[in-house]
Amino acid sequence: MTNHSISSRDYDAFRKFLEEACGIVLGDNKHYLVASRLNRLLKELELGSVGDLIESMHLHPHSGIRERIVDAMTTNETFWFRDNHPYVLLKELIFPEIVKKRQGQVRIWSAACSSGQEPYSISMIAQEFMQARMGMKMSGIDIVGTDISPTMLAHCKAAKYDALALSRGLSPERKNRFFNNLGEIWEIKDEVKKNVRFIDLNLMNSYSSLGKFDVIFCRNVMIYFSTELKKDILRRMSQALVPGGYLILGSTETLASYSDDFDLVRYESGMAYKLKPSSQLSTPQPSWVSSLPKA
Ligand SMILES: C[S@@+](CC[C@H](N)C(=O)[O-])C[C@H]1O[C@@H](n2cnc3c(N)ncnc32)[C@H](O)[C@@H]1O
Repeated sequence: MTNHSISSRDYDAFRKFLEEACGIVLGDNKHYLVASRLNRLLKELELGSVGDLIESMHLHPHSGIRERIVDAMTTNETFWFRDNHPYVLLKELIFPEIVKKRQGQVRIWSAACSSGQEPYSISMIAQEFMQARMGMKMSGIDIVGTDISPTMLAHCKAAKYDALALSRGLSPERKNRFFNNLGEIWEIKDEVKKNVRFIDLNLMNSYSSLGKFDVIFCRNVMIYFSTELKKDILRRMSQALVPGGYLILGSTETLASYSDDFDLVRYESGMAYKLKPSSQLSTPQPSWVSSLPKA
């Protein structure tokens, strides 16, 4: 058997493992995708098949193979200011609304942040907002990027991007303003980096240690999950938002029948979801939330 062919038995066992480990649901005919994504790992571990890989993972539970399989199977496509409208929404609607309502730090979660373009784009928009709106002061911003992939999180923390990554969605003005040129590579400037931190988080696990957010970006990740998991994630995300907080999904995603906790807010070309008052305060709050005015 070559690395590119997988028996039905191995494929079914692999699908089950992957969904249990990270929620990603594979269709019936993704044998080639699995084989190509795992090829390098199989070669490195000198294993002949996906079946051998699963066996090896069970035999050596602390070897890190499980994490490496999940890492290899994630799709990490992303780019700067993806779809543009979420960033217009932040700058023109959400930031003004928050700073008018209260003082204090604005908190944003980029759930499934891949290689960092999403949280760093949010940080750049915050810088632009603070510079343009001298009368509307934001007292600080805390942006948390989370992902399940250790490779992507290492990339995020390094904050260095090559010409190809930079060519996707970044204007020359923003590139010159927010990056230092290190030759072939460009590094995010401290003013953007300092507001962003990264945490390893599987979206199937608890979010309670993250605290409450004003805005959650959960874009282009739930498309890989089952309906049950989508509903569960949305329920827990609604509990991770402050009263009146916003949820922003990918441009091809909707809440559909997955959650009743949000109202749709349309703005120019885009839309967001705002937590309904009736869905708020269903879980214990950290003490700082109680000082916020109600939405
Ligand atoms: C297509 S990228 C989306 C990146 C970014 N949000 C965007 O829209 O440009 C999907 C990301 O979801 C992450 N991911 C997949 N399953 C996950 C899970 N169970 N928990 C956390 N992150 C996950 C992948 O590692 C990948 O980086």
